[in-house]
Amino acid sequence: MARRILIAALAAAIVGAFALAAAQIPEDKQVLKLETKMGTVTFEHAKHAGFEGVECQTCHHTFKGEGLPQACGECHGKKDDAPKLQKAVHARCWGCHQEKADAGAKHGPLKGAKNCKKCHVKG
Ligand code: HEC
Ligand code: HEC
Ligand code: HEC
Ligand code: HEC
Repeated sequence: MARRILIAALAAAIVGAFALAAAQIPEDKQVLKLETKMGTVTFEHAKHAGFEGVECQTCHHTFKGEGLPQACGECHGKKDDAPKLQKAVHARCWGCHQEKADAGAKHGPLKGAKNCKKCHVKG
């Protein structure tokens, strides 16, 4: 029984590895306009996915490589074990931007009250 589960898991991992290489951002999701109560966040999705060392899983941390990743909001804000959407997304965005800033590299907006409007733009 245990062995059969192990083999199934291995097979899934192998299939996943192939699907992973193929995961592409759909045409209509290359740039995302995320509507929030704080204003619209324009997120250069495809550009971000193309940065060196970045893969889909860098942000879509539960993505197993089959089909397309789910929206963060499918879990964050809906499921009890997942932190609120705002907290999770901010942590991911600010975390990387801060790392780049610390390394003296180009980066996006950092954490901090004066930076909210660099991402959230009210129309
Ligand atoms: C690096 C860009 C960025 C910065 C800077 C930023 N945010 Fe966000 N914020 C986002 C993204 C992306 C989301 C998630 C939108 C989504 O997935 O729908 C979000 C979501 C939110 C939400 C949830 C909105 C809703 O409708 O549920 C709030 C509230 C929010 N941010 C407030 C802030 C505040 C306050 C600041 C400044 C301290 C800030 N944000 C700075 C990108 C940013
Ligand atoms: C730098 C972070 C980041 C990277 C890297 C990234 N994404 Fe995303 N992706 C997001 C965010 C943020 C959203 C918006 C989620 C939301 O609205 O809750 C999103 C949304 C999506 C959606 C729409 C989901 C839906 O149902 O609305 C798809 C599909 C998607 N991404 C595919 C990909 C693929 C494929 C890759 C790798 C080639 C990738 N993403 C890389 C952050 C990222
Ligand atoms: C299938 C459900 C699911 C999806 C989809 C999902 N998450 Fe999560 N996420 C979780 C759960 C559950 C946790 C808490 C447990 C853990 O850390 O793994 C979490 C934790 C996190 C954390 C750590 C938060 C903290 O405060 O320590 C970040 C950051 C995060 N998610 C970002 C994202 C982003 C960004 C997306 C979309 C691009 C996303 N997640 C999509 C379920 C999900
Ligand atoms: C893995 C690292 C990484 C993550 C995760 C990341 N960013 Fe960035 N972001 C960058 C880098 C690097 C730049 C600077 C690009 C440049 O100037 O060429 C940038 C730039 C930006 C900019 C400035 C405009 C632009 O596109 O150049 C915005 C806005 C931005 N990011 C929003 C976000 C949001 C919103 C998220 C979370 C959903 C996010 N970023 C997650 C690395 C990241």
